[in-house]
Amino acid sequence: HPTSSAKVGDRSYPRDQWTNVTPTILDRTTAQLHRQPGHPLHILAQRVRATFSDFAFHDYLNPDVTVEANFDQLGFPPDHPGRSRGDTYYLNEQNVLRTHTSAHQTDLMRVGERKFLVAADVYRRDEIDSSHYPVFHQIEGLKLFDVSSLGPEGLGDGAGVGRTADTGPVHVVDDSGPTSANPVQEVHSRNNSLYLTEDLKKELERLVLELFRGAPSKESGAPLKIRWVEAYFPFTSPSWELEVEWEGQWLELLGCGVIQQPLIRAAGLGENRIGWAFGLGLERLAMVLFGIPDIRLFWSKDPRFLSQFTEGEITRFKPFSRHPPCTKDVSFWLSPEQECGVAANWSDNDLMEVIREVAGDMVEDVKMVDSFIHPKTHRKSMCYRITYRSMDRNVTNEEINTTQEEVRRRLVSQLRVELR
Ligand code: PHE
Repeated sequence: HPTSSAKVGDRSYPRDQWTNVTPTILDRTTAQLHRQPGHPLHILAQRVRATFSDFAFHDYLNPDVTVEANFDQLGFPPDHPGRSRGDTYYLNEQNVLRTHTSAHQTDLMRVGERKFLVAADVYRRDEIDSSHYPVFHQIEGLKLFDVSSLGPEGLGDGAGVGRTADTGPVHVVDDSGPTSANPVQEVHSRNNSLYLTEDLKKELERLVLELFRGAPSKESGAPLKIRWVEAYFPFTSPSWELEVEWEGQWLELLGCGVIQQPLIRAAGLGENRIGWAFGLGLERLAMVLFGIPDIRLFWSKDPRFLSQFTEGEITRFKPFSRHPPCTKDVSFWLSPEQECGVAANWSDNDLMEVIREVAGDMVEDVKMVDSFIHPKTHRKSMCYRITYRSMDRNVTNEEINTTQEEVRRRLVSQLRVELR
């Protein structure tokens, strides 16, 4: 590598065998789209902030965090797939680009915060298509309670479980109480856990209503349909996901739950504190609310994109004419150690990274279109279809050909495949 350390802002991390961040990704750490006035992600973040107006709001926390903060303290088991170099950007063995805003939970509790939001850029190695991008944005919310202040009288109707409520503009389906698979923690009394759950669900239903109020594609008068789905996270129990019905599809908005007590202990707080947390993804929500068709548009500097939005308003995006796409296939044989056996290590995400490093935001989509094993040599062949399209200019065939040639060269030099 040209430099022996990976730099994020003025912090520099000595590279080691774990390092897999690329220059393109490190470049993104300074963009801070969620803090750019007039940007749809900023507009949305400010809406959430307004809905939780008595929560502290943090939108400037550095994206480089320790493995400990991102995984260990949150109770991720050592073999959790999220920890793999295939899924996460490692600066080095001890440090990563945060994969979620939950990485800040413990530290903020430790410094005395009791109710807070964190809006931030998060990083995950991923496939390439119109709704996946290796950088996206989340908002974390966390609230702590004093156990002694709860009292049994706070408890409502069993946390709304088994409820199908028509509360005016929202239609809620919730048959996901705590179960044996999604249990109340042993250290918590059932009443306290249910109390938190009820508060959490009530607050988040209020948030959704606030966000979708007057959303453009909602048929007039029809209530918004939402549902609570049982989920699993290492750092909450019980846990849920909240989904919203949007144009006939269930859209997953957020994950949440009652914070695992060991986290609260790790933050130096006693058993007299319990709390809930949620994490909300901003891009997919912004895509439906503003009608933005491609996730790469959030990164566009094209005034035809940015000039369409007004701070404080959720308005419908009017797509401008798109440049034509250009698709190219690439086929290759995997090397024997990539395709089989215990050392099998072919990862789609590695391929995605190679293409992104060459083509940047000009790559729109990458799909595997064929794979087979040669009957005689037993070697595995793969074919991927790459769709190129620029968001803001016309690209010549020549330029795409040059890009594709470079992709092919790097597949050989970096991933050791044999082109067909
Ligand atoms: N961090 C989780 C994710 O990124 C979401 C989450 C946050 C879940 C807080 C529970 C509590 O998927």
